[in-house]
Amino acid sequence: LENGVARTPPMGWNSWNTFGCNINETLIRQMTDAIVSSGMRDAGYQYVVVDDCWMNPNRDSAGNLQGDPGRFPSGMKALGDYIHARGLKFGIYQAPLDRTCAQYFNSYPGRTGAQGHEAQDARQFAAWGVDYLKYDWCSPTGSIDDQVRTFAIMRDALRATGRPIVYSINSNSIHDKTGPRRNWGDVSNMWRTTEDITNAWNTGQTNGYPMGIQNIVNVTVPLAAYARPGSFNDMDMMEVGRGGMTDTEMRSHFALWAIMASPLIAGNDLRNMNAATQTILKNANLIAISQDPLALQATQVSFDGTRRVLAKRLSNGDVAVALFNQGTATTTVSTTASAIGLTGGSYTLRDAWTNTMTTSSGTISASVPGHGTVVYRVSGMLNPTTPVTSPPPSSPPPST
Ligand code: GLA
Repeated sequence: LENGVARTPPMGWNSWNTFGCNINETLIRQMTDAIVSSGMRDAGYQYVVVDDCWMNPNRDSAGNLQGDPGRFPSGMKALGDYIHARGLKFGIYQAPLDRTCAQYFNSYPGRTGAQGHEAQDARQFAAWGVDYLKYDWCSPTGSIDDQVRTFAIMRDALRATGRPIVYSINSNSIHDKTGPRRNWGDVSNMWRTTEDITNAWNTGQTNGYPMGIQNIVNVTVPLAAYARPGSFNDMDMMEVGRGGMTDTEMRSHFALWAIMASPLIAGNDLRNMNAATQTILKNANLIAISQDPLALQATQVSFDGTRRVLAKRLSNGDVAVALFNQGTATTTVSTTASAIGLTGGSYTLRDAWTNTMTTSSGTISASVPGHGTVVYRVSGMLNPTTPVTSPPPSSPPPST
């Protein structure tokens, strides 16, 4: 979406994966402080996103949304001010129909969805200083056309406020197999590609609940052409640091989200991260690959059912390569400089995890443990026949 924001994949933190509905202003402030003290802010994480269950189950007499007075007694504007004062940005959750997902599942009271209140809610968010809206379908029904119309109402309502707000949508909640059916780049800055992520490597789902890391990668690889500045395939909030995976799997998870230009929204408790988690989430080589200004998603170079090679062109002419072993046994994963669009006869490879440099005359190869991903940043000469930019936008930019 051409609205001036999310020129590279948004980075931040979201409350849902760890805390679900158990949120309050003290917790969000502590997490805001932790983003700063842990060095996450300086590594690039910006948006503090308050997910579902922040709202008073009743709108006020004028129909305005309100924060839950028990858990957010200072109000949502004050929370936004707290986040902004620490150099960060404020994100919030809402749903387009009558209910949020927690309201749909009866774990949270009320029917505070935006239906019929879209312009009012957008103005309310802007007045609170909201910089990012997560907008979540939460209904088992609705055709693709209904979804496009409904999501576009809030797109236009946000634009009408004049405040730059990242627009994040999820067409999949309780409604799987919709996201990949279209390119949502004309409607939103980021769109979920699957049902909800869980803290596991592989759940065996193709696109149902819940999705493991491997399952989300499988669905999102074919959608690479949709990614461009302002528009990204959202592979969901990350499960790094949540304890359900090995360190090798967590490194793969982060490396794949980075090279596939997914938003990098941490979902763990930032107040008590161990060293491995911090090293993964703050890896500067991978964050540079994620935040490269060309904002391309890695495309598939080869896949034999076990060994998957993905490559992402970078703005300085380098190419980032992921050598991903989907099997359980250690194996050698290989490609070549020419297969990733480089030419020249001599290449340097920087390993994103070890930061070591090697040279190669064309082979790009590594021994990769099961579920592991080795990422190299490869420098050579660009092959002039390889396209450097994204395909043209699927719809004309809006007149702002
Ligand atoms: C849906 C979304 C989740 C989360 C919950 C909140 O399941 O996909 O990311 O926002 O709703 O209820």
